[in-house]
Amino acid sequence: MSFIVAIDGPAGAGKGTVTEEISKRIGLINIGSGSAYRAVALKTIKENIKLEETEKIIKLLDDIQIDFGMKDNKDIIYLDGEEVTERIREKDVSDIVSQVSSIKEVRFKLNDIFRKCAQGKNIIMEGRDIGSYVFPNADVKIYLDATVEERARRRFKQNKEKGIEMTYEEIIENIKMRDKNDKEKEIGALVQAEDAIYIDSTGMTIKDEIEEIVKIIEEKFLQNKK
Ligand code: DC
Repeated sequence: MSFIVAIDGPAGAGKGTVTEEISKRIGLINIGSGSAYRAVALKTIKENIKLEETEKIIKLLDDIQIDFGMKDNKDIIYLDGEEVTERIREKDVSDIVSQVSSIKEVRFKLNDIFRKCAQGKNIIMEGRDIGSYVFPNADVKIYLDATVEERARRRFKQNKEKGIEMTYEEIIENIKMRDKNDKEKEIGALVQAEDAIYIDSTGMTIKDEIEEIVKIIEEKFLQNKK
């Protein structure tokens, strides 16, 4: 038996922060799908492969190793044995990740990894297509949204705290570009699953978002136990 919570939504909607907090609060394993796509993008950069060289990117998947872990109570990710949690948030990765994640072979490979990680476990997972495509039978599906401006403000603040240099204008451009790409993907496009609960987090505090989602999860968990 496994219990699956899917949190989907556009870039900067707060999915990462909310998911990390909730996973700790109710003891669900957090599998960061966006981080996994970022890891593939980072490998593309490290191997000096251009975005047009799709075949070469697909070849990278043959021996890529992506692992999720925990350090000091924080979720971390390894690419080929090296911890890359902060590195994958940098601009060069953000600039190409949406295109890399549009390659269907990349999606198939990562979806395999996600499904294997989830087997028999209670997990929470954030992304774009988790409730609609990766886990269509997820127990709880949330679609977390916010206006472009609000999302860019949040990313700007987050980047500043992490020492990542990107102007507000660069972030707005990056988010708009990614929204467009994410929605137009051939497979795994950003879409609200029919049975997902829509939450517009514009003007909400992270604390309120967490409370609302935890309430939904707990109700569903109790229902399933009956
Ligand atoms: O959530 P994030 O910004 O870290 O995601 C990085 C990119 O990965 C984003 O541009 C879209 C892509 N992505 C995806 O295509 N499918 C997912 N399930 C998660 C992320």
